[in-house]
Amino acid sequence: MSKNQVLVTGGTGYIGSHTVVELQNQGYEVIIVDDLSNSEIEVVDRIEKITGKRPFFEELDLVNESGVEALFKKYPNIGSVIHFAAFKAVGESVKEPLKYYQNNICSLINLLNSMKKYKVENMVFSSSCTVYGQPEDLPVTESAKVQPAESPYGNTKQICEEILRDTVKAFPEIKAIALRYFNPVGAHSSALIGELPKGVPQNLVPFITQTAIGLRDQLSVFGDNYNTPDGSAIRDYIHVVDLAKAHIIAAERLLENKNEEGYEFFNLGTGTGSSVLEVINAFEKVNDIPVNYKIVDRREGDVEQIWADTTIANEILGWKAESGIDEMMESAWKWEQAIRKGNA
Ligand code: NAD
Ligand code: WQD
Repeated sequence: MSKNQVLVTGGTGYIGSHTVVELQNQGYEVIIVDDLSNSEIEVVDRIEKITGKRPFFEELDLVNESGVEALFKKYPNIGSVIHFAAFKAVGESVKEPLKYYQNNICSLINLLNSMKKYKVENMVFSSSCTVYGQPEDLPVTESAKVQPAESPYGNTKQICEEILRDTVKAFPEIKAIALRYFNPVGAHSSALIGELPKGVPQNLVPFITQTAIGLRDQLSVFGDNYNTPDGSAIRDYIHVVDLAKAHIIAAERLLENKNEEGYEFFNLGTGTGSSVLEVINAFEKVNDIPVNYKIVDRREGDVEQIWADTTIANEILGWKAESGIDEMMESAWKWEQAIRKGNA
């Protein structure tokens, strides 16, 4: 029997759930594993509502080594693993580094050990543009230097990439692709799945949508004195559905043995930078709703500007982001409204 199932760790989370939808739309059978530490079980129902197909779901903390092994034993037809599960709050990671190192690193090691044992050869890993820090040259290419991490969270991504590189070298039957995401935003067009931050959002777009809907009084814009055209910081925002699609291409590249290097990494962005003020303006314009904001001091640890050179992803993966900032802001707003109306 061919190994045609995809194990999606963190599959009820933000990026994972959008990827499960795209995988199922393309006919893949999906097993989600998630401990629900940062997501809700209802997401499985919503994925079924969108795709007409219910993924398998296993509630499990991937730090539990014997649990991970039992998972691979239970599903002998896993052909590839897309590994999203991780803690991702930069500020929390500074206060609780061990929590982050234990969760993000032990989960990966447990998965790789089981993959070795059960002959599952392909892994797509969620990495981040945070590995570049503030690059010297923009747009940033994959050959830019990885900089000392600004936070334990960022460091877990660097360490995980090193673990993958060493593992692939020692066990060439295992192949891996790390995808370095820039700033994922937006939601599925159905408004049935999207980003569900717990507590006060730390990221820009959920803070904009929560301010627009009246849940927050005011958005703070962290700095208008950067060396950028309007003084606010620049990022490469990418629609989560575009990002999701890249995972399927990466998994297929591994399944088809196209990555001769064994270990590869790609930037996933649009290739265009937008400033904080441009993002706010786009949101206001496309949704015809004002956002109450004020300029405050810079946020500690923020880089001034970063956007991706996506040439390698475009040429080697044959992938290109399709949505622009307007579609990102429109879908983010539709999702925010759906949550507050209780439709999501
Ligand atoms: P998310 O928190 O929405 O999803 C992660 C999921 O993993 C959650 O459902 C959570 O419950 C689960 N999880 C965490 N630890 C687990 C464990 N030990 N066992 C089982 N499940 C566990 O986050 P997201 O935004 O979808 O991010 C997915 C991945 O992408 C993460 O690895 C994150 O670091 C990376 N990433 C995210 C961004 C971003 O801005 N969202 C940017 C770059 C990289
Ligand atoms: C974007 C811009 C802020 C909130 C973080 C992680 C990174 C990656 C993605 C996982 C910045 C500004 C924000 C607010 C603001 N995650 N901002 N007011 O910092 O680029 O990246 O998420 O890997 O590792 O560090 O994203 O959305 O927090 O900020 O002015 O209330 O918006 O200063 O310029 P960031 P973000």
